[in-house]
Amino acid sequence: MAIRVLFPSSSSSSFSTAHATPTPRTRARARWTSRQRLLCCFSSSTSSSDEVSSSMTVSITGATGFVGRRLVHKLLSEDHKVCVLTRSTSKNKAASLFPASRYPGVTIAEQEEEWERCIKGSTGVVNLAGMPISTRWSPQIKKEIMQSRINVTSKVVDHINSSTSTSSPQPEHEASSNANGNGPSVFVSATAVGYYGTSETDSFDESSPSGNDYLAQVCREWEGRARQVKQEHVRLVLLRIGVVLGKDGGALAKMIPLFMMFAGGPLGTGTQWFSWIHLDDLVDLIYESLRNPAYTGVINGTAPNPVRLSELCDRLGQVVGRPSWLPVPGLAIKALLGEGATVVLDGQKVLPARATQLGFSYRYPYVRDALKAIAKQL
Ligand SMILES: NC(=O)c1ccc[n+]([C@@H]2O[C@H](COP(=O)([O-])OP(=O)(O)OC[C@H]3O[C@@H](n4cnc5c(N)ncnc54)[C@H](OP(=O)(O)O)[C@@H]3O)[C@@H](O)[C@H]2O)c1
Repeated sequence: MAIRVLFPSSSSSSFSTAHATPTPRTRARARWTSRQRLLCCFSSSTSSSDEVSSSMTVSITGATGFVGRRLVHKLLSEDHKVCVLTRSTSKNKAASLFPASRYPGVTIAEQEEEWERCIKGSTGVVNLAGMPISTRWSPQIKKEIMQSRINVTSKVVDHINSSTSTSSPQPEHEASSNANGNGPSVFVSATAVGYYGTSETDSFDESSPSGNDYLAQVCREWEGRARQVKQEHVRLVLLRIGVVLGKDGGALAKMIPLFMMFAGGPLGTGTQWFSWIHLDDLVDLIYESLRNPAYTGVINGTAPNPVRLSELCDRLGQVVGRPSWLPVPGLAIKALLGEGATVVLDGQKVLPARATQLGFSYRYPYVRDALKAIAKQL
């Protein structure tokens, strides 16, 4: 039940094209955007991402996880190719999730040199790896939560940078296939809304400053590593993800069984904010980030209508036909999770200002509809 979520830093502005000195990349984007506008005048049915119609090869860390699995399926369904960058300990898991016989479009990379080769041959990279945070935190676990993100992100950034070191800054059509082996042109890296810290009263968007707790620090450092990618060659998108709602993982996979046993209810006071996003919308947002040059810098991966946890629980009770009547006291959660209790007891109201500005179209802007759709799959 991760209510509090990890995610990026201060410097959303450092990604923002608005304040930047024009670089070959920003000039190219400006040219692309003007041409796109022109084309749109003639063809109202052509979306921005339709125009970049070439096939992609995408390397993904964390592809065996809750979000990654769905992203792999989406990419394959659109005829793209995928490299699953996994740890050696997860090789069997990756092979059973994506058996070669049924997934000819998937390459599984486990060794360092396989990661390097895959990244070099990819048009884009998505970084989703990280140790789960909704657990009891000990000093050792906190270190691993941080290190798992920093280490994987550093490794990926190093490979991207070395694969682009010989290429000139990417001009137009950045999303076109990487036929020359010049390395990826886009890097989409996960972070979390935990970046903003917690509050029951404030709202946060991409321009808000970072919080001062442990998860905010994790997100800042995670984002900091991702920012080390050579942005004159590679478009960087940092997705500050909210609580992802889907049947097969994340918070709901833990909450639904409790509700089905008539043991569901809010955790703590229930007044904490719950900034959520439906899994399908998050995967669409990642996909759009890969395809559309206008997507750049920090983008909050949350739905436009966050709710308080008590509302989430009431709605969940309604859609699964069970009451939300058994509140779990904060003290019990603290006894169970220690400092990690903050993940479920504290929240933040995070609004997706950038996605809205970019015209991203949510399938599930309201939590009631998101939960209804998920309950139908149970
Ligand atoms: N789900 C949410 O509600 C949510 C909210 C905000 C942010 N996020 C962030 O979004 C990303 C994807 O979320 P998710 O729910 O799909 O995560 P997930 O299901 O927990 O999967 C993450 C993947 O990370 C890799 N991983 C796990 N432990 C690791 C470790 N100790 N060191 C290195 N890699 C490790 C694993 O891939 P391999 O075993 O194949 O290497 C795993 O499949 C995560 O970074 C998460 O922090 C998620």
